[in-house]
Amino acid sequence: MIYGNCEFVDKKYKPKSTDLVVMYRVEPIKGISLERICELLAGESSIGTWTKISTMNPTIAKKLKPHAFYINKKKNLVKIAYPEKLFEKNNMSGILSSIAGNIYGMKEAKKLRLEDITFPKNIVKAFPGPQFGIKGIRKLIKIKKRPLIGTIVKPKVGLTAKQHAKVAYESWVGGLDIVKDDENLTSMEFNNFYKRITLTLKARDKAEKETGEKKIYLPNITAEYEEMKKRAEHVKKKGGEVVMVDILTVGWSSLAAIRNVTKKLKLAIHGHRAMHGALTRDPKHGISMLVLAKISRLLGTDQLHIGTAGIGKMHGSASEELSIEYEIEQQKIKANPKLNRLEQDWYGMKPILAVASGGVSPLQISKIVKTMGNDIIIQAGGGVHGHPNGTRAGATAMLQAIESTMKKIPLKQYAKTHKELEQAFSKWK
Ligand code: 3PG
Ligand code: 3PG
Ligand code: MG
Repeated sequence: MIYGNCEFVDKKYKPKSTDLVVMYRVEPIKGISLERICELLAGESSIGTWTKISTMNPTIAKKLKPHAFYINKKKNLVKIAYPEKLFEKNNMSGILSSIAGNIYGMKEAKKLRLEDITFPKNIVKAFPGPQFGIKGIRKLIKIKKRPLIGTIVKPKVGLTAKQHAKVAYESWVGGLDIVKDDENLTSMEFNNFYKRITLTLKARDKAEKETGEKKIYLPNITAEYEEMKKRAEHVKKKGGEVVMVDILTVGWSSLAAIRNVTKKLKLAIHGHRAMHGALTRDPKHGISMLVLAKISRLLGTDQLHIGTAGIGKMHGSASEELSIEYEIEQQKIKANPKLNRLEQDWYGMKPILAVASGGVSPLQISKIVKTMGNDIIIQAGGGVHGHPNGTRAGATAMLQAIESTMKKIPLKQYAKTHKELEQAFSKWK
C-alpha cells in the first residue's frame, strides 16, 4: 500500500529521539482502512502526493520519510514519527502546515483530531518558551504558595476607560491580586486602549499604596501585530508588567513576534484561548487543548486559560485539564511517572501557570483548588461583580474563599464569621 512513491506504514519502526511524534485520532470514510488512512496522513503531511512523481528520489525518501508505526483499531488512534529534518525548527506555522495542514481536508478522513505531539529536543530548544513561568509570576506578585485570585472587569465591553479603572480599583482593594480586561475588549470609541491602560495602572498604584500589597493588571493588547507592539510599549511605559493576548485569534505567528517584543520589554504574556472551542470541542475532530497548550508554551506564553475542570460555565473535563496541567507545569510532570521521558522534561523550558476562568464564583474555589492544585490563577468576572453587595464585597468574598481553602476550614463554616462570603451564599449555591 503506497501513497505516491512511498510506503509509510511500518509497525516495526521504533521512533528515534530526533523524531517528532504525532498522535492522531482518525475516522476514515466507509471502505477505507486505518492502514490506508495512515499512508495518506503521513504522505500528505510530508513528502507525498496523490500519485507517483518523477521528481522523487530514494535519497529524499530515506532522509525525510515519516513512519506510521502505531495503529490502534479500537480507539482509532494512530501515531506517526516525522524526522526532525522535515521541519524548519523554530517555525511553528510551518510545522503546523505539515502536521495539521492539508490532511484536515482529505476526502478519506471523515474526522481527524490532533491529540498530542511529542517534540524532539532540537525543536523544543529552538523556541523561547515562557520568560517568567510559574516561579517568575509568583516572584512578581510576591505570593509563594496560595493560588492567585483575580477578576475580569465586567461588563465585558461597555464601560468607559474611567469606569473600568474604578472597577479595577475596587477589585484590588477588596482583596484580589489580579485584574484583567476581557478577551473582546480592545480599543473602542467609548473606551480607548491607551486611556484605559493609563488610568487603570494609576488605579493599581493607588490600590498598592493603600493595601501595601502587590497588584497586577492584565491589559488586553490583542490587535493587528504592529498595533499590538505599540500597545505593549505603552503598557511598559505606564508601569505594567504583563500583557494579555488572545493567542488563537491573533495567530501563532503574531504570538511568536510579540514574544520577541516582550523579551525586550521584560513583560509577561497572559494567554486567553478565545476561539479554542472551534478546534477543541468535538472529541473526534480538530486539535486537542493539550496540543494548543504545548504550542503556546513553546511560543512563550507565561500563563494560559485551560478551563475550570468542568466546574464553571465552559465545556471541559477534569481529566482533560489535568493532563494539560501535567504537561505545562514541569514539577508535576516530573512527579508523574506515567508520562514518557520526552514529555516529562522540556529540557529546562519554564512551565506555564494555568488559569481557571469562566463561570466561577467564590463558592467553587475550594473545588477548583482540590482538582487543579495551588499553582493556578483563579479568575471570576460575574462571580465578583455579581456579588449582592457589589465589586469590592465580591473581591473580598473571593479572598475569604481562598483563605478558608488554604486553612482547610469548610466554606460554609468560614462564612459564618465572614460576611461577604455569607452574602455570596445567598446568591450562588
Ligand atoms: C470567558 O471569557 O468567559 C472565559 O475566559 C472563558 O474561559 P476559558 O476559555 O478558559 O474557559
Ligand atoms: C474570562 O475572560 O476569563 C472571563 O470573562 C470569565 O468571566 P466570568 O467569570 O463572568 O464567566
Ligand atoms: Mg472573558
